[in-house]
Amino acid sequence: MERVKVKSYATVANLVCGFDILGMALNEPYDLMEVQLLNEPKVVLHNKDQFGLPEDPENNVAGVVLLSVLESMKHKIGFDVEIQKQIKPGSGLGSSAASAAGAAVAANLLLGNIFSKEDLVRFAMNGEKLASGVKHADNITPCIYGGVSLIRSIFPLDIVSIPAPDLFVTVVHPQIEVKTSDARQILRKQILLKDAIRQWGNIAGLVTGFLKKDFDLISRSLEDVIIEPVRSILIPGFDEVKRKCKEAGVLGGGISGSGPSVFMLSRDRLAASEAENVMKDVYTRIGIGYNTYVTTINQKGVEMVKDGQ
Ligand code: HSE
Repeated sequence: MERVKVKSYATVANLVCGFDILGMALNEPYDLMEVQLLNEPKVVLHNKDQFGLPEDPENNVAGVVLLSVLESMKHKIGFDVEIQKQIKPGSGLGSSAASAAGAAVAANLLLGNIFSKEDLVRFAMNGEKLASGVKHADNITPCIYGGVSLIRSIFPLDIVSIPAPDLFVTVVHPQIEVKTSDARQILRKQILLKDAIRQWGNIAGLVTGFLKKDFDLISRSLEDVIIEPVRSILIPGFDEVKRKCKEAGVLGGGISGSGPSVFMLSRDRLAASEAENVMKDVYTRIGIGYNTYVTTINQKGVEMVKDGQ
């Protein structure tokens, strides 16, 4: 195979209480990437979207990932990449992770699957380091594995896939940009033990709720007493959206990754659609442009697509 096209999906990092350790893949939105093998050691990038991201490989998320793949290889090969992003950078929906994970998976397909999924997460983390200054894996991992992922540890890498029930996910992306690096900068470096205890209870409760399909437990555990109180001030309308979506019947939700997108989980499509109406009403009234998605959990991770798809 000399050329491959992949779909790389949006992801929701943190899943409210699991800062940097939990993430989930979505079926929408997604990026498309087409990667071709070259017979000289270089990476050539072409952006086919309106986001104006750098095409210099050392300053591009997909570029640094592919350069790290090349560094690990003996053979003198290279990659030519066309990227058609649909996940807006700075949305909190894992845009950089989709580029990083898509590039790593596409390269591996072209190389005959010589790398494990864990290897691909390691390569893709170089892209996150470029994008946010930190090697976090809570977007990349679900993007590559699909479903819900627990990243118990990054060094050494310890990934656990969590079987989650089929849930609907409603997302609103208010059209303001929050840089992950800025949203990390404002966080407190120290937390109170009582807050840590509450957060541990929620993380354990959320994972157990997913495993046991205990929707009340999932709902109770979608609470973040550490990060959300700080970051939510960056997102106009956040408290109102959350409160009204709960009243509309969602299980719960919060900030998607570092924001500004906000997501809600629901058991049925009706509650998910009600949540979308709430989100639209709030941002129309506030006067901030927005995109919404009503989607489901993606179970496959980055996947190959046929031409024309
Ligand atoms: N866990 C990261 C953060 C995800 O919240 O900063 C960024 O998408």
